[in-house]
Amino acid sequence: MSLKAHEIRELFLSFFEKKGHTRVKSASLIPESDPTLLFVNAGMVPFKNVFLGLEKRPYKRAVSCQKCLRVSGKHNDLEQVGYTSRHHTFFEMLGNFSFGDYFKREAIKYAWEFVTEVLKLPRDKLYVSVYRDDEEAFRIWNEEIGLPPEKIWKLGEEDNFWQMGETGPCGPSSEIYVDRGEEYEGDERYLEIWNLVFMQYNRDEKGNLTPLPNPNIDTGMGLERVASVLQNTKTNYEIDIIYPLIEFGEDISGATYGSSHENDVALRVIADHLRALTFAISDGVIPSNEGRGYVIRRILRRALRFGYKLGVVQPFLHKGIDVVVEIMKDAYPELEMTREFVKGVVRGEEERFIRTLKAGMQAVDELIERAREEGRDLLKGEEVFMAYDTYGFPLDLIDEIAREKGLKIDMEGFRVEMEKQRERARKHFKVEVKKVKPVYQHLRDIGKTSEFVGYEHYEYETEVTGIVSGDELVSEISEGDEGELVLKETPFYPEKGGQVGDTGLIETDRALFKVEDTQSPVDGVIVHKGKVLKGRLHVGDRVIARVDRERREDIMRNHTATHLLHAALKNVLGEHVRQAGSLVADRYMRFDFTHFEALTREELKRIEELVNEKIRENLPVQVKEMAYQEAIKSGAVAIFEEKYGDTVRVISAGEFSRELCGGTHVSRTGDIGYFKILSESSVGAGVRRLIAQTGRWAVDTSFKEHSLLEDIGLSLNVKQEDILARIESLKEELRERDREVARLRQELLKLQMETSIKREEVGDFTLFWGRFKDAESEELRNLADMLRHKTGRDVVFLVSEKEGKLSTVVAVSKEIAHKIKANQLIKEVGKSLKGGGGGREDLAQGGGSNPAGIEEAVKILREKLKETTLGG
Ligand code: ALA
Repeated sequence: MSLKAHEIRELFLSFFEKKGHTRVKSASLIPESDPTLLFVNAGMVPFKNVFLGLEKRPYKRAVSCQKCLRVSGKHNDLEQVGYTSRHHTFFEMLGNFSFGDYFKREAIKYAWEFVTEVLKLPRDKLYVSVYRDDEEAFRIWNEEIGLPPEKIWKLGEEDNFWQMGETGPCGPSSEIYVDRGEEYEGDERYLEIWNLVFMQYNRDEKGNLTPLPNPNIDTGMGLERVASVLQNTKTNYEIDIIYPLIEFGEDISGATYGSSHENDVALRVIADHLRALTFAISDGVIPSNEGRGYVIRRILRRALRFGYKLGVVQPFLHKGIDVVVEIMKDAYPELEMTREFVKGVVRGEEERFIRTLKAGMQAVDELIERAREEGRDLLKGEEVFMAYDTYGFPLDLIDEIAREKGLKIDMEGFRVEMEKQRERARKHFKVEVKKVKPVYQHLRDIGKTSEFVGYEHYEYETEVTGIVSGDELVSEISEGDEGELVLKETPFYPEKGGQVGDTGLIETDRALFKVEDTQSPVDGVIVHKGKVLKGRLHVGDRVIARVDRERREDIMRNHTATHLLHAALKNVLGEHVRQAGSLVADRYMRFDFTHFEALTREELKRIEELVNEKIRENLPVQVKEMAYQEAIKSGAVAIFEEKYGDTVRVISAGEFSRELCGGTHVSRTGDIGYFKILSESSVGAGVRRLIAQTGRWAVDTSFKEHSLLEDIGLSLNVKQEDILARIESLKEELRERDREVARLRQELLKLQMETSIKREEVGDFTLFWGRFKDAESEELRNLADMLRHKTGRDVVFLVSEKEGKLSTVVAVSKEIAHKIKANQLIKEVGKSLKGGGGGREDLAQGGGSNPAGIEEAVKILREKLKETTLGG
């Protein structure tokens, strides 16, 4: 019996646990505060700051199985997926890590022991590679493990030097390969399964390498690959945790895996992309037009296109989500919690895209038509690109349709357009690396960090330790100057976690500084931005720092209320609700969360009621510092799941809400006073936004709303409870007047007609024609219909002018419509009116933009009538 993927994962984690490693849960696919990366793309990403020495953890050895997505930036496999045996967008990476603890020797020994004794891979089938200059690694493999030199390949940077991205931690590596036998060729025969990285440098933006504070170990073994070796499958797609998805694709499409290369590619794409979509959306990525959301949208569309190729034209991916969840939920329980949400998002997105795909079909048909009209047998590059880009229409499908109709497509021109687009996309994708002003970095380097004392104090006596003016440190600032003060301790909360920065005053006996905002540009450094109102401040001055207490209390009310709201949303809407962003200010709060549809009035009411109920219960709000793992065990909601800092703050409001949070809070929910939702809206597919208020600002709004109602009542001259009825009756009166106006206009038109309709006998016909001002086209039509019943040989032409635009009607008696056609005449008259039109043989309508051409139009009409005879 071969090992199941779930078993391999567990064997790995427990093997390294026994070797003194702390088992760390996979972080979210969305990197926490790392602007250089769109998605976590390796097991080491959540540990990046530990490698860089910026963050400390309570352990020096860790082991994890990390969710990874390689779809952007340095490691991007998207376009290969489906065509190869091993590429994936989503995969799981097993890894063991040492932070300045063990290095090459142990890393190699552990890996060898795991591979040969736990996985029991035959020693004689194993090969390794080392970085060509890494004599030490070579020696360990050779002398200590006992591998003969011919089984230790020395390779270059390409293979044996690993780095996370353009910048960040990196180092030489050593890889382990398995010989899978002669029936396989090249890379597939000697399959690389494990990458041991000896992380010892940091690469900066200029490409320079600087040694890290400690040498570290980062290893990565793709779970799917190892499973494929142990389960002896030809590709990764036949392993136990992926194959059911291939079968799902077969069921949906009727295609058979293994029956053709094309089918296999499509089925693999669907299987792979389903995994990526499930995990990414579950982690909170919502398809959209930029950044992460854009990548996920492309993955989803790519899967749909391949489905389309297999003949599936209905939404189907959402059904596949269930298959992924069933396979993976034991290892990733969050999938079960977000299942319905993920399905809702995918389904909505699928439906929209399939509609566009159909619209794309039509667009391609039109392009082909046009090419034919112009006598081309080629679709131009830009046309093909338009269909491809605007509708996301698959190129080979365009090609196929064109070929069926005897046309070719200009591939070269298409490629040129494509390249231009790539260039645009590259610009788009480049995530701005947040630049920290050097002066702030410098403050940190010289230890000018501040202790935050604002959880307990609004006011604090302390010392000025730094003054920033523009981009420089200065020793003093004086009246009228703007600048930033750094204090030894501070009660001012710097903007963080959605909570705005504090404002207030910093003063000495002779000087006064007004703080307009507080920020923390670099970890630990807190700057108070503002202006000297009076006197002069120096580095070294003793000062009293006073937070604007009323404002801060407003902020605290909003912050605690945000937690109550979050809990209430989960309560009323379901566990899938996740915070997707927030702003906690003094006058209001903004709370974004994942949910697939607009909230009903009833839901909003229940949410608002529930929060207010919890306010009235006056629950104690408690702050506890505890270890992260303990906090999660106690059921706290972590907004950023990947925070592993040794201790975290857990804020709880009675039993109702418990969240990790660094913000400031009231001490009992009753302090919030009153909570009021102002609005609910959408901020992109699957994300809703609530704006709400608390305390005195909510009361203020209630008051304003009430006086508005009063004013409306006064203006309508009714009691408040009668306002609606009054508005309804006013609307009815208005409708009545509209009808009256329409009647009067009709009468006016009749009058106009009597005076302005010309009647002429032209050849075999009676021509009625007339020009009007401001008549609606419906009115013209009615009139024309009346006139063509006069003689049975009537031809009617009416034109009305409204703001320089013309509407026209041509009608002919039904009896003669086969001889002289209204829908042709309308085109004729359209020529001089600079317009056109169409319709039935007996009645046609059109328009134009040249009032000066009306006489000419009538002339043309006369000519036509003269040319035509009715005959017997
Ligand atoms: N970080 C290394 C990799 O992803 C182990 O291959």
